[in-house]
Amino acid sequence: MSPRLYFPVFALFLLVTPPLSAQHAIIPAPVRAAIQMGAFHIDAETAVLYDSDSADVRAVAEYLASRIGRVSSFTPAVRHYTGTSLPRGSILLSIRSAEGEVHPEGYALRVAPNGVRCSAQSAAGLFYGVQTFRQLLPPRFESVAGRDTVRGWDAKCCLIVDAPRFTWRGLMLDCARHFLDVDFIKHTIDVMALLKMNRLHWHLTDDQGWRLEIRRYPALTAVGAWRREADGSRYGGFYTQEQVRDIVAYAAARHITVVPEIEMPGHARAALAAYPSLSCTQESLPVPHTWGVFEDVFCAGKDETVSFLQDVLTEVIDLFPAREIHLGGDEVPPHRWRECADCRARMQREGLTDASALQGWFMSRMASYLAAQGRRMIGWDEILAGGLPDDAVVQSWRGMDGAVAATRAGHDAIVSPTSHAYFDYALRTTDLEQVYSFEPVPTVLKSAEAARILGGEAAMWTERAPQSVIEEKIHPRLLAMAEVLWTPPLQRNFFLFRRRVQEYYPRLDSLGVRYGFEAPPVRFVAAHDSTAAGLSVSLKAGQPGLQLQALRFGPEGTAREVDVPVALQGRGLLGAVARKNARLRSDTALLRYDVHDALFAPVHYSRPASRHYPGSGDSTLVDGIYGSTDHHDGRWQGFPGGDVVLTIDLGEERALQELSIGCLQHAGAGILLPRSVTFAFSRDMVAYTELPAVTPRQEEKDMARRRAAFSVDAGGMRARFLRVHCNVRPVLPDWHSSAGEQAWLFLDEISVRSAP
Ligand code: ACM
Ligand code: ZN
Repeated sequence: MSPRLYFPVFALFLLVTPPLSAQHAIIPAPVRAAIQMGAFHIDAETAVLYDSDSADVRAVAEYLASRIGRVSSFTPAVRHYTGTSLPRGSILLSIRSAEGEVHPEGYALRVAPNGVRCSAQSAAGLFYGVQTFRQLLPPRFESVAGRDTVRGWDAKCCLIVDAPRFTWRGLMLDCARHFLDVDFIKHTIDVMALLKMNRLHWHLTDDQGWRLEIRRYPALTAVGAWRREADGSRYGGFYTQEQVRDIVAYAAARHITVVPEIEMPGHARAALAAYPSLSCTQESLPVPHTWGVFEDVFCAGKDETVSFLQDVLTEVIDLFPAREIHLGGDEVPPHRWRECADCRARMQREGLTDASALQGWFMSRMASYLAAQGRRMIGWDEILAGGLPDDAVVQSWRGMDGAVAATRAGHDAIVSPTSHAYFDYALRTTDLEQVYSFEPVPTVLKSAEAARILGGEAAMWTERAPQSVIEEKIHPRLLAMAEVLWTPPLQRNFFLFRRRVQEYYPRLDSLGVRYGFEAPPVRFVAAHDSTAAGLSVSLKAGQPGLQLQALRFGPEGTAREVDVPVALQGRGLLGAVARKNARLRSDTALLRYDVHDALFAPVHYSRPASRHYPGSGDSTLVDGIYGSTDHHDGRWQGFPGGDVVLTIDLGEERALQELSIGCLQHAGAGILLPRSVTFAFSRDMVAYTELPAVTPRQEEKDMARRRAAFSVDAGGMRARFLRVHCNVRPVLPDWHSSAGEQAWLFLDEISVRSAP
């Protein structure tokens, strides 16, 4: 898989330079790079030369000249040049000097004080060389056109030989759940180009919106592009075919192929709102404004559906020159098909035994329609279940199993597992380091199978990400994905990468990229201060270069900044904010604390917490810290199905007053409050006195997420041991959508107030 690069002129250089160092801030890191003393000066005398008759090569030269022109007081001349030597003071983009065996997308770049030579076998290779060249110029070179008119630029001298590890280096944008406007998409294409990414996977249709104008079926956008939000407002938008052609051409000029995704047979509610006759029930349903997987899908039994989608694909093929067309195929519930007379008749006629086979039949029909026109289908990994044509490409998202199965069966695969590539996921689960650690080729594959991994994609789903916040989710994680897909694994090192990312931020600032954080930006670190019998809390930054601020509420309820570590007594809230610059500031993180009299006392559990929800370990329930309403926040311990009994040793007899335990309600996740909690106390750990059971104050069916405390007043009874019995449903009750499955109990703190 590693590129073979044998430029004779660089042979010696390859022997003497270290593979990678932090001496440059080029992302993705080149295969080989040495930054050298000196600079090449660009000014009004500089010419951009090219030595090929290809219009694509000339276009790269013009692209470079115009990028210089947009921020300079001059625009370099662009000229065809056929000489062999490099004219002094010029930048030569050369196909003719790329002799020998070179990766088709590879390039060699030599920047010296008297000239620049970029050699490659293709316009794409030259284009990537130009992207590297941009990164040898100061960040201000990227500033928005018209703002800066500089009279000259210095490019650092260097010697670079480079080529990509994978041919498919993608970003998926979901423009269905939230509409992204044309300017934003072009801006994203610009940033992708700088990162040498070459596939924009454009998710154009889904339940919540159909965003592509189809001339033959105007209701797809007249109806399907618009939805009524919960607050009654109308939301939507779509791309005209003219806008699509414009975006496709804009991307092509940056060596990016736009791969459209037209979802079928599921995720189709917007289309069915426009044309209800294409569903199994033919019921008229609105374009939904909620998220999830919907049971109404395209009817696979009606010939009308098949011909409708083929008509749609005819226009799609006309708009998009990409060889691959993505047809979705994910998350198709079988319910409607099983009950539909047309679908059942189809299954009988075609000898299909179940819904999965029907989906296989349906996708194969669509794939052969594409094949007849020289295109091939991509589908999400669900398409493996029902049988698929040989040339279908599988996009593995539910982990990497789909990629393993697909490549073993001889299919090409693209990888975008939720674990590393889903940028809709929070930084808590998918931070910069997690993305950077992604290895696109499963180690179990043999080399012929591994060669079928075309590359990968970052997936930006937008259920919870309107355009205003999307860039904070994409960046800086896309820098990591770009490097994973370009740079050989042996040359990847997160420590050095992160240093380069810090140097890269000013470039992103110049480009107007509204990047977010690399990881959750601020964390509270609480320690037991046993001499003061309280908590000592400090703050930890999630990345370099942040300013952190701790905030406490004063008596009037206003927050003020306090020094860390903060010594805490009593109950209250501590806030924290992280700032990177004037634009990027975190949400205020809150720590709810309760310094009580059982802080860090030993706790005995009748059974241990689930290994998936251990909280912060053995002291979770007595660390003085409450959980948020997010059961993944590391403050909660989770217990599946059934009662839990906890016993605490206070170390000495005390007069017990208020006792309480914090529990979580999040019915949607199967987490219910206990049916009751019984507190009991003992002087000797043998004989216990029970207090009356405490029951929840809210409806069990409450779907809101909240923390609830179960509390009693022990009236000053003296005891050393406290027992807390949580009476819990073993399984979810009948009213729950997952009735009969295991119910969960989540606990964060047992709080004890007493007098000595
Ligand atoms: C997917 O995330 N449903 C492909
Ligand atoms: Zn049907």
